[in-house]
Amino acid sequence: SPLDLIVRNGTVVTASGTTRCDVGVLGGRVVALGEALGSAAEVIDASGLLVLPGGVDTHCHVEEPQADGTVHEESFVSASRSAFSGGTTTIICFTPQFRGEGILEQHRRNRERAACGMIDHGFHQIITDPTPLVMEEELPQVIADGVGSLKAFLTYDPLHLTDAQFLEVLVAARRHGLMVHVHCENHDAVAWRQAAFLAEGHTRPRYHALSRPVVVEREATGRAIALAELVKQPIQVFHVSCAEVAEEIVRAQARGLHVWGETCPQYVTLTAADMDRPGFEGAKFMCSPPPRDAVDHEGVWAMIRRGVLDVASSDHCGFSYDGDRGKAKNGRDASFDQVPNGIPGLAARLPILFSEGVSKGRITLEQFVALVSTNPARIAGLAGRKGCIAVGADADLVLWDANKRVTMTNVLMNHAIDYTPYEGMAVTGWPICTIARGVVVMRDGVVTAQPGSGRWLERRHVNPGPML
Ligand code: URP
Ligand code: ZN
Ligand code: ZN
Ligand code: ZN
Repeated sequence: SPLDLIVRNGTVVTASGTTRCDVGVLGGRVVALGEALGSAAEVIDASGLLVLPGGVDTHCHVEEPQADGTVHEESFVSASRSAFSGGTTTIICFTPQFRGEGILEQHRRNRERAACGMIDHGFHQIITDPTPLVMEEELPQVIADGVGSLKAFLTYDPLHLTDAQFLEVLVAARRHGLMVHVHCENHDAVAWRQAAFLAEGHTRPRYHALSRPVVVEREATGRAIALAELVKQPIQVFHVSCAEVAEEIVRAQARGLHVWGETCPQYVTLTAADMDRPGFEGAKFMCSPPPRDAVDHEGVWAMIRRGVLDVASSDHCGFSYDGDRGKAKNGRDASFDQVPNGIPGLAARLPILFSEGVSKGRITLEQFVALVSTNPARIAGLAGRKGCIAVGADADLVLWDANKRVTMTNVLMNHAIDYTPYEGMAVTGWPICTIARGVVVMRDGVVTAQPGSGRWLERRHVNPGPML
């Protein structure tokens, strides 16, 4: 028969519209959209379901080596399982650079690890030490292998860059046509606040949030934008936590700058009060920037509706509650600055944004698809291949039951982490079946993908062009 697969009778949703049609797949790609597509080796009936492009999560920390010599618990295999369970079919992860070291060996090892997984993937190259050797000799080799973006941290020891170093990263990106993603918090300001709390004996998880107030995020965001403007290099501001920070992006966009903002599910669901839970429980919600207040959730939605925050990634960065690599690796009474930062959210991302967004009437179906799939694919340089349902695109599809009510539990997250910060949260809307390049990889929560089936995504021409 002429086609490999037909997905029949579904409601196909893309960023630009919704239509009832069948999707024909051949050789892992969409080859036809319409009615009466003929016969196929496999037919899936999507009656009553939405057919969405697979989620594209451009901010995931997976099997990432840490400065202390450990590696993240989430492997590319377990992350693939979790992603497919939550309707995501593409992830962009990170290759670290450690100060005093080059990047080639880390890149090679990351490629090897990711090749064991089942999900299509790319990397952002983290730069923490822009030496001439790294920037002039090694970086071009990594770029030639298909890395299209750099990640710069303006906070964290030992990752943060000085302004001079950040400028070097921006200049290199401009020269090579890369995108730059930035973690914006003022390192010295956070360190000052932390030291003040610790000196007063305030060590509990809640002081994590109090030591990283909005102003330190807003300042670093404004500074990153100013330096990007100076160099005429586009940037995406990672994990914007509230409208006050997004206002910096509003002003940049009004000046015609190529500056984009990403937000995450935690900034529309969690609050700083979650870090105030009894015992050490608050550690389960510690990420940076910290979740703010409930009123900020509505501010983030407003910025999503305005298109200022046009990508919602998970920033999946899992540390189990228990275990020697986890949140309590320095003890259940560790001070807040000794707890690893980051929370898991790979599988929860689409259900949370659909439920809080579409089901509660805050955004349209099309805006949802743009936010979790089409826009991240475009910013990652994958437009036309990922994040859309169109002839010629990879056949990455999610069959979505818009009416299914689910109480989220850690088991449903299907990840390697022993908790989810969203335990007990009720959502309306859930992925029933995930298809990656024409192959069913998840049905009713059961992942059937073959390890080693994930492909490396070469990302080129990621930079949309220099700013005027
Ligand atoms: O707390 C967070 N977000 N951890 C992950 C690393 C990062 O800052 O993106
Ligand atoms: Zn430092
Ligand atoms: Zn970050
Ligand atoms: Zn991150």
